[in-house]
Amino acid sequence: MISSFLLKANSINVYRKFYAKQLKKIELKIKSSFFCSNCGGESPKWVGKCPFCGEWNTYNEEIIEKSPIKSEQEKVWRDPKKEKATPKKLDEVSSISSSRINTFDNELNRTLGGGLVSGSIILVGGQPGIGKSTLLLQLALRQKKKILYVSGEESEEQIKMRADRIGLKNPECYIFTEVNVNNLLKESNKLHPDIIIIDSIQTLISPYIESTPGSISQVRECTGELQRYAKETNIPIFIIGHITKEGGLAGPKLLEHIVDVVLQFEGDQHYAYRILRTLKNRFGSTDEIGIYAMDTFGLREITNPSELLISPIDDHLSGSAIAASVEGLRPLLIETQALVSPAIYGTPQRSSTGFDLRRLSMLLAVLEKRCGLPFGQNDVFLNIAGGIKVTDPSIDLAVVSALISSLQDIYISKKICFAGEVGLSGEIRPVSRAEQRIQEASRLGFETIYISKYKSELVKNKNFNIEVKTLTKIDELLSEIFT
Ligand code: TYD
Ligand code: MG
Repeated sequence: MISSFLLKANSINVYRKFYAKQLKKIELKIKSSFFCSNCGGESPKWVGKCPFCGEWNTYNEEIIEKSPIKSEQEKVWRDPKKEKATPKKLDEVSSISSSRINTFDNELNRTLGGGLVSGSIILVGGQPGIGKSTLLLQLALRQKKKILYVSGEESEEQIKMRADRIGLKNPECYIFTEVNVNNLLKESNKLHPDIIIIDSIQTLISPYIESTPGSISQVRECTGELQRYAKETNIPIFIIGHITKEGGLAGPKLLEHIVDVVLQFEGDQHYAYRILRTLKNRFGSTDEIGIYAMDTFGLREITNPSELLISPIDDHLSGSAIAASVEGLRPLLIETQALVSPAIYGTPQRSSTGFDLRRLSMLLAVLEKRCGLPFGQNDVFLNIAGGIKVTDPSIDLAVVSALISSLQDIYISKKICFAGEVGLSGEIRPVSRAEQRIQEASRLGFETIYISKYKSELVKNKNFNIEVKTLTKIDELLSEIFT
């Protein structure tokens, strides 16, 4: 009797176990979800308009698998003996020593706000072929520290070829062609590198997620994992991220929220100049930029950009004017060139390189309306020297001068430069850091600089080695230069 009862109880246990297993299997079933390709928002079903960022038609289905072993993932590299975090008084928290890691690259040091902070995550974005891999490999080779360079894009031989081209040597630079984030962190735990470089985040995969490499859920998961690793081990990690056709960082925008620093590497592939811009920096200002030139032996730092962006030949041709602009915190004298010619076909063309096309249209409309200049019947082409994209609005005055110079075929001396924003009513607005611009222009041997009359008293009583002329309206520019 008792034995039959025990047998029954045992079989119930077996059944229970069997059903629990079945239930687990159901839980493990592959699930799919919909993600916004713009902001990374998640929705269980397809929606036309993203409720998070308001973009239309951005939702794509992705296979995800949120398996219960997910929590196991952290065991791959986390020290089990390490105690769990508990709330702490802010006073008890030891402050990070201000010492930063020198990258041996002045431009990069500057953009990072004075060097690399331990345990930080830096995202480097940029168009394909712009030089992201070169920039970070160069950094790896300049260091005298242990570097782990993880590449899912190129083979070891290809990286070696690039290193040979750059011509630097660091015996402590390790190359690892791995895409699995778990294996990568396991190896890193053994190697104890001082800096990790990931080329690129779109090639990494987390084994706990089913979707393809580069998909939103993979990118998000892998970055999250790397971030936890960096914070726990204090190893700084550079992550290379691709850029979408629209110019945003590919993958979710929320990647930008996870990381500490976002750097954007930009420039025109057909020109040698590259600008490294800080879009976000938790440890410094976002005003700094780094300027490089891509040479045959890697990226060269440019310490004196103004001298390179102005052509040394003065051939007395019309259509060119020099802008005293400021990029980041650095004064930069840039040549703007315009070509205005009668439109042969019905609709006149407008084309610009390095300058916002809509802003060009606005300036043309202002010139047409306020000065009666006939740009409406002409094709207009605008070019900023060096293929550099300028965001400083102070370049307006130089653009306007170049446009009028080309239209009227009047040459502007190469000893004159301009700094001013042009408003809709044709007024010349003041610009920031006027003094710095004037000093840079004077240092480079310019004779005259035109600035806005408003707020010009700030620089009035200062002694400059250059003549400072002031303007209030565009008409004054016409009578000053083009008569
Ligand atoms: P790369 O770093 O591969 O770009 P990304 O990683 O952003 O895609 O740079 C590739 C380009 O740089 C390629 O067109 C060749 C050029 N290059 C040079 O001109 N000189 C050099 O020394 C190196 C290494 C690359
Ligand atoms: Mg690359």
